[in-house]
Amino acid sequence: MPRVIVLATGGTIAGRADPRSAHGYNAGCTSGAQLVASVPGLDRLAELSVEQIANVASQDMSEAIWLALAVRIRRIIECGQADGVVITHGTDTLEETAFFLHNVLPAGTPVVLTGAMRPGDAPDADGPANLRAAVQVAASPLSRRRGVLVVMHGAIHDPRQVVKIHTTAAPAFASPGGGPLGIVNPADDPAAIRYFAPDPAECAAPFALSPIIVPLSRVAIVYAHAGMDAACISYAARDGARGIVLAGLGNGNAPQTVLTALVRAVRQSVIVVRATRVPAGRVDRNVEVDDDSNGFVAAGALTPQKARVLLQLLIANGITAPDAVQQAFNAGRAPCDSG
Ligand code: SIN
Repeated sequence: MPRVIVLATGGTIAGRADPRSAHGYNAGCTSGAQLVASVPGLDRLAELSVEQIANVASQDMSEAIWLALAVRIRRIIECGQADGVVITHGTDTLEETAFFLHNVLPAGTPVVLTGAMRPGDAPDADGPANLRAAVQVAASPLSRRRGVLVVMHGAIHDPRQVVKIHTTAAPAFASPGGGPLGIVNPADDPAAIRYFAPDPAECAAPFALSPIIVPLSRVAIVYAHAGMDAACISYAARDGARGIVLAGLGNGNAPQTVLTALVRAVRQSVIVVRATRVPAGRVDRNVEVDDDSNGFVAAGALTPQKARVLLQLLIANGITAPDAVQQAFNAGRAPCDSG
């Protein structure tokens, strides 16, 4: 029997209806142990144990909880305490937690994040099926080398690609870059899981945890729009931001006054990363904006919220030179020799 440890952090999957309103509910009410006990047959898939790391709605997910998860999971991996880990999580920031963990955990042992769009006591609750699928994936020999994954609504996603794309629908997650890595269905046999992509290449040296002191450095995300002025760039630089991620127009662009303010920020040692507010596609160097002259970094395929996490980790690990930062963004994770 494979051993799976469930780390519970809260979210709608642990939510309950709020009697004060027709559609309202409160996230993070039920314990991880109650969640696991509520899914029939889970104990036939794996030998399970449950730990409560937090019980928050994921808009309150914090860097301290990220660090607690990372420290606990590293220990699980180093001591061989489980074959796989499942994290139950709110869906609002699930992709950021997944991406953080992808960058600080060694590749290999599956660490599967899941959540739900309906609270546990809703008639159409999706949490039980998602939790079951997550345990199936974490316990499967097919996942042995897959590292951090997101499982929602029968799809297995790469933490670098996955984004929440709907505010309320149950199929709320997608991987706009290359599609999901695989699928999982509720059947009780090994064919229930199919990966479309090969195992990832080993990257044995993720970011070191020891230099990560929370709160991490301040990195602001600035959302571009027609008629934007430079006020929020100046504010972020004055407010002590070590980095600014531009959620830019199209290919990571912004009005000229904003680009000029970003160049000023670079001269004040702020690291500027150009990402995009467009849901799919990449931002590459020197296409419409002269990154070489301006000292900017291009985010590649990372969304602004993931670019922010990567930049925070790079700063924590002392990687701040624009070329080195760009290299990490090209790889979409920690440089392989950073550990
Ligand atoms: C949350 O992110 O905790 C609330 C929303 C959800 O889990 O779907």
